[in-house]
Formats: sequence, C-alpha cells, structure tokens
Amino acid sequence: MTTLTRELKPLLLFLVTITSSTLLPVQPDDTNHVYTPCADTTVQVSDGFTLSIAFSSSKAFFFNSTLQLSPCDSRLSLTSQNSQISVFRPKVDEISLLTINTSSFSPGDYGGYMVAFAGRKYAARSLPAFVANSTYTVTSFTLVLEFKKGRLQNLYWKRDGCAQCSGNSKFVCLNNQDCAIGTSSCKKNGGSVDCSLGIQMAFSGTDKHFSALNSWYEVENLRQYSLYGLYSNLKDSLTSQYNNFF
Ligand SMILES: *[C@@H]1O[C@H](CO)[C@@H](O)[C@H](O)[C@H]1NC(C)=O
Ligand SMILES: *[C@@H]1O[C@H](CO)[C@@H](O)[C@H](O)[C@H]1NC(C)=O
Ligand SMILES: *[C@@H]1O[C@H](CO)[C@@H](O)[C@H](O)[C@H]1NC(C)=O
Repeated sequence: MTTLTRELKPLLLFLVTITSSTLLPVQPDDTNHVYTPCADTTVQVSDGFTLSIAFSSSKAFFFNSTLQLSPCDSRLSLTSQNSQISVFRPKVDEISLLTINTSSFSPGDYGGYMVAFAGRKYAARSLPAFVANSTYTVTSFTLVLEFKKGRLQNLYWKRDGCAQCSGNSKFVCLNNQDCAIGTSSCKKNGGSVDCSLGIQMAFSGTDKHFSALNSWYEVENLRQYSLYGLYSNLKDSLTSQYNNFF
C-alpha cells in the first residue's frame, strides 16, 4: 500500500503538470517587479506591465508649447495642473480592455484629452487623444504597445477611420478618425448612454526573449467593437450599449 502510494505520487505529479501546461491555461509567474509607470523595465510574455493614462488639456502635455514630454517628466508639472491619472497593469500579449468608469469622473472636466505613458529614461508616450468636451464624447479606443526585446518603444492609438459608426445617426465622425456621441446623451447628463471609456490594448514587437507579441494581429483581425462581447463582466454595461448601436 505504502509502496504503491510512493510510486503513484510522482506519477500523479507528472500527470498534473502535463495537464496544466497542455490543457489548462497556465498562469506563470509575473516576473516584472516594476509597478510604477514612471520606471523602466523589460518584460516577457505573461508578465504584468504597468502603464498609466493621464487626462488633461492637450497643451498640458507639451513643454514650451512644442515639445511633447512624458507625464513622468517633471518639466510638465502635470500634477499642479488640472489633470487625473489612472494606472493599469495588463498582462503582456493578452488582449485586454481597460475601462474607466465615468459615472464619477468626466474627462471633459480635466481638459478632455488623454495620453498613455510608461517609462522614465526610456519614456514612451502616445500622442494626446481627444476624449470629451461639452459637445462630443469618444468612448472607444485601441492602444498599441510596441515592445523591442521586452522594452516599451512606442504607444500609439490605432484608429479605423470611423468604419464602426458610419451610417449610424447616433454617432458623429470626428476628424475622420473617432466615432463620437453627443455628450448630452451620456447618463451623467441625463442621457441613456454609459459613456465609460473602453481602451482596447494590444501588444506588438518582441519580448525580452525575442518571442513575438501577437495580440495586435489578433485585434487587427477582429472588428474593434465585436471584442466588447468577449468581456463578459461588462455584458450589462458597455456591451449592451454597443449591441444597441451596432
Ligand atoms: C521656449 O520656446 C521659445 C520660443 O519658441 C524659445 O525662445 C525658448 O528658448 C524655449 N525655452 C526652452 C526652455 O526651451
Ligand atoms: C459605472 O459605475 C456605475 C455606478 O457604480 C455603474 O452603475 C455602471 O454600470 C458602471 N459602468 C461600467 C461600464 O462599469
Ligand atoms: C469639442 O470638440 C470638437 C472636436 O474636437 C470640436 O469640433 C468642438 O468645437 C469642441 N466643442 C467645444 C465646446 O469645445
């Protein structure tokens, strides 16, 4: 009996290991111990990666009116201006949707533009993206994080030229790139739409072991808004609202 148990144990362990790595989704350790967005790091697939989104006016992101700096750069003195910051930690190469609930936060009250950023010496920042003013609100964005050997190189907003809202009378196409709804339709202003922001994130480039990050290609092959259906925890909020629209 005892002997049998001893012989079985390693076998069971072995089986469990095989099963967990082949059949079940593995949750390997997060080896990235940098949790602040204003520090440098290199990552591998399955690590968490901390990035931040700052809300302010478009001009608050520029030093001396011309040079766009990372919000981590103290020369911008963003903290002394009308601004808000959200911090996120998505998993590298997983398609994730960052949401910012606007029931108690109106981006329009903080200048109406946002910049995604991470890193200090190797600071990366996106261009400012228009989110909202008293007339229009844009609720859906796609952000691409481009890595090279595991170090963040670039953050950019990927737009689809209003393909998702053309012909839909509830939307206005701003600058041929963003689908916007009237800010007066937002719940906060007595309307019926939950104007929370959804930021679809995707990874491209290579991790520190030169493994290719592929989630960007997956996003590109799917229609942006159809992805909302994948986030079951949002089914009753963001999803149903988009289902009503498309
Ligand atoms: C700011 O810009 C002005 C004019 O464009 C220039 O003369 C000045 O040197 C700049 N200041 C700094 C600190 O770069
Ligand atoms: C935002 O928060 C409000 C109040 O807590 C909630 O009713 C609403 O469903 C939330 N929206 C999203 C998209 O999570
Ligand atoms: C709101 O933003 C839109 C698009 O950027 C712009 O055309 C419009 O003039 C702005 N409205 C106000 C009140 O600032």
